[in-house]
Amino acid sequence: MKHLLGIEELSKEDILYILNLATPMKDIILREVKKVPTLRGKIIATLFYEPSTRTKNSFELAAKLMSADLVSVGVSTSSVQKGESLKDTIYTLEAMGVDAIVIRHSRNGVPNYLSSFSHASIINAGDGQHEHPSQALLDLFTIQEHKGHIEGLKVLIVGDIMHSRVAKSNIYALNKLGAKVVVSGPPTLIPNEVREYAEICYSLDEAIKDVDVVNVLRLQLERQQTGLINSLQEYHRFYGLTSERVKHAKNDLLVLHPGPMNRGVEIDEDVAYSEKSAINEQVSNGVAVRMAIYYMLMGGKEQ
Ligand code: CP
Repeated sequence: MKHLLGIEELSKEDILYILNLATPMKDIILREVKKVPTLRGKIIATLFYEPSTRTKNSFELAAKLMSADLVSVGVSTSSVQKGESLKDTIYTLEAMGVDAIVIRHSRNGVPNYLSSFSHASIINAGDGQHEHPSQALLDLFTIQEHKGHIEGLKVLIVGDIMHSRVAKSNIYALNKLGAKVVVSGPPTLIPNEVREYAEICYSLDEAIKDVDVVNVLRLQLERQQTGLINSLQEYHRFYGLTSERVKHAKNDLLVLHPGPMNRGVEIDEDVAYSEKSAINEQVSNGVAVRMAIYYMLMGGKEQ
């Protein structure tokens, strides 16, 4: 495999391969000397046209831990601001000898477009409302660590399913690995087509009762302007993950959130920091999973 564009294109075996690789990668992070020579001589560029804390920094840290050289393109200070096209930016990075480009962009399908002409590996770090494959892989890795397996679990995804690339990648991945997916959120934010992959339950109070995992999506506050939700207070009342709601869930419920969180809107602080929450582990696992992605795409090449 040369590129990582989305979960939709991956097989069950591809996903399991990455999850299995992430375990030894996590062992490296836990060592006193957190560095391996696997990608010595390789160059990785990160190119983020949208803000990011977790994804950008963990892809960059993963590259450094594997001894790759890193080019972190600051889009706001690059020649993109002088009108340089995306295609010319990619050609420029390739001319510098870059082997892989990690890209986040606000438009759906940009990584797929780049992969049609780029000689470097293209890694999708989130494209518009389409996919966020590395997030889904780290979410699955975290679930597997806690539950021991994915197949047969019931996983609830709560929030703005319609606009969420995290939801789409998770739904594809969970289906491929044999989990049952339930989605909950305001009817205005759940597209009908999701029925092909998930059960819809508009009542979070009902949905929460018998699930093994709940993955709470960030409420994209910009959606407020579009009239798709009435108010943040109403959203919290019906779809906020509160400790009162968690009391009605299974005892061993696992709580996930991809971040960044709007505390007091989609999730309450006491739930986010409870013993049921693996939100900080998701961040640590993000580094291991991104190391596994690099290994899969670049580790086997001649050094
Ligand atoms: N989950 C996620 O994509 O977070 P960032 O926007 O901080 O990268």
